[in-house]
Amino acid sequence: MTFEDFALNGECPQPYRKGSIRDMVSALEEAYGEYRIKGDEKMSREPNTNDGFELRESPGKGEGIFATKPFKVGDIVMVGIIKEVLSGNHTHASQISENEYVLHAGLISKVNHSCGPNCGIRVNETGAHDFIVMKDISLNEEITFDYAMRNYTIDHFPQQCMCGSKRCHGRITGWKDLPDEKKKEYEGFVAPYLIELDAKRSCDKV
Ligand SMILES: C[S@@+](CC[C@H](N)C(=O)[O-])C[C@H]1O[C@@H](n2cnc3c(N)ncnc32)[C@H](O)[C@@H]1O
Ligand SMILES: [Zn+2]
Repeated sequence: MTFEDFALNGECPQPYRKGSIRDMVSALEEAYGEYRIKGDEKMSREPNTNDGFELRESPGKGEGIFATKPFKVGDIVMVGIIKEVLSGNHTHASQISENEYVLHAGLISKVNHSCGPNCGIRVNETGAHDFIVMKDISLNEEITFDYAMRNYTIDHFPQQCMCGSKRCHGRITGWKDLPDEKKKEYEGFVAPYLIELDAKRSCDKV
């Protein structure tokens, strides 16, 4: 079984559903012997290339991902595959729970932030983030999401947001500091652990 077979068709072993990403790794290794979450030796090709997007320069933001074909609301632009579990946050990490960070395979880690994003995220059966279209995307448009859809707080980000959206707040905030109306707008397009954390914190206040 390859990463892609698992991400697209695999069934997740039960222990993962109950535990953390580390439980998932053990469960996958046990269930599928050859499955690997660290290192890509068994992948026949880099995932997420030539599937309607490519890496280009993105002025003011380094590099970014651009559409090489149009996408419609609800399309999956990128299928997430976890390449590595990290010991902490860094500029290209994805936060997957209150204290867990991973690196996605392929080009997902190169998607830039926008305060008026065209994509959101959905956790797939492997625990990785798929990128789902929230607003139709035209040819050559940059593919973006709001980093607050995945990060509770933002640790690694320049002072000034360069997203260029009419709705730019100028500064990137994590989910923790997102206004309620934004949270509502992003419903269904954010990592579920963020909603769980909000619920937990509001219970703790009572
Ligand atoms: C996950 S990486 C995205 C890929 C990155 N642009 C690259 O070339 O590798 C996150 C980094 O990209 C840059 N970035 C992403 N979105 C940005 C934005 N809206 N404004 C300014 N910089 C941004 C910041 O340097 C940030 O730390
Ligand atoms: Zn912005």
